[in-house]
Parts: sequence; C-alpha cells; structure tokens
Amino acid sequence: MLFRQLFEPISSTYTYLLGCEETGQALLIDPVLPTWERDLEIIRALGLRLRYTVETHIHADHITSARQLKQAVGSLIAGPALDRLACTDALLEEGKPLQLGSIRLDPLHTPGHTDNHFSYRLGDRLFSGDALLIDGCGRTDFQSGDAATLYRSITQKLFSLPDETLVYPAHDYEGRRVSSIGQEKVRNARLGGGKSMADFVRIMDELKLDYPKFIDHALPGNRACGVCPPDVPAQLQEYCAEVGKSRQG
Ligand SMILES: [Fe+2]
Repeated sequence: MLFRQLFEPISSTYTYLLGCEETGQALLIDPVLPTWERDLEIIRALGLRLRYTVETHIHADHITSARQLKQAVGSLIAGPALDRLACTDALLEEGKPLQLGSIRLDPLHTPGHTDNHFSYRLGDRLFSGDALLIDGCGRTDFQSGDAATLYRSITQKLFSLPDETLVYPAHDYEGRRVSSIGQEKVRNARLGGGKSMADFVRIMDELKLDYPKFIDHALPGNRACGVCPPDVPAQLQEYCAEVGKSRQG
C-alpha cells in the first residue's frame, strides 16, 4: 500500500492518502479545499487514480474538497450514513468495510465530538478523526458533542484495539504526526492513565475554548460536501481558496 500523511496548514488538518499498488486506486481521508490540487498532483505523481474521498465527520474548522475532487476526477464521496447528506455517494456504517483493491477500511462509530463521528481502521492503523488526538481529543462543546459519549467511544472502543495500533489523527497543532493506542492509553492527559469519566467531563468543561471562527460557514459548506458559502468574509477567504486556482500559483 502507498501511504502519505498530508498537512493543510490553515486548519492544521491531516489528510491521509491510501493507495492500492495492485489496482492503482486511491482514497483520501478528510481532504481539505485549499489543498485539493496539491493532493491530486501527489496522487497523479504516484500513478494512482482517486476513487473515493472519505469523511470522518461534518467538520467545523475547514471545508472538505470532496465535491471539488468529484468534479475534477469523478471520485465518489463517502461518509457516515448517519449524517444523511444527500450529496454522499457511499454511505459508511460500522460492520461494513469499504474495500478498494487491497485496501480495507473498517468504519468505527466513535461519537462524542459529533454524534455521527467515525474513525476508520486499516489493519494496524487507526484514522481517528477528531475523536482521539495525540495527547488530546476533539472538543465536545459544539455540533452535538458530548464529553461522556466521547469518553465511552475512546476508552471502550478505541482503547480496546491492540496497543501497537498506530493512531493517525485529523489534526495536530504542534507538528506531531503519529501516536499509538498503547501510548495514548498511558499518556493522554485528558483520558489516559486510567482517568475516570468524571475526570474527563470536568477537564472538558473547564477548557473554555473560543467560539470556532469558521464554524458558521464550514457546517453548511460541509453539509453540501464542500461548497464555500457566498457569505464568507474577506478575512476568512483563505479557507475557501479560489477553486481551480493553485495557492502556490
Ligand atoms: Fe471536527
């Protein structure tokens, strides 16, 4: 399998490229609008063809490039069936793997950051979205988030995976790229080291995070699988990046 961890700096999002060498097919997990051309260039340079874009959840901090990529190369839009988005082509559910050549992605319902959030497991790798981050987790104060639910998703479902499972999160704000289930079980400051649900709920309550600056535009944009709403103010236009135009160009 070909594998690349790609970074989008405006929202500090990691996009994951998985490619099947035998069939030449590829998928992207959580691609981001401003970097859609870069992602496509990398896919082409590897001799691959993009078949799917896969979302972990309806993002509040960036707009997906799923629709743009579909327009450009005909890739199918895959995402949680629970979100019931009319624009989703492939509806993902736990217990129903997404198979692409030799790549098998197992969807795991991991609610708490959002109620319909999914992580995806590929053998000994876990793409944990905004559920489990490196020494952290996604916020639980917006978008149907719930700290107790996230605690259960992580401690009961993700922490039951083998310790050596590699954890690839959807974000990191400090340049860290990968962790493991074993490491997060021990070292995650919010819910590792045997922290109780009550500890975790208190920690999340006390975070007092700022209102997400792009959420009011990102949610409608992502409910349409990647449309930049017309009312995005000038200071947030970088999140939309003129479609069809390279940011580097
Ligand atoms: Fe998120």
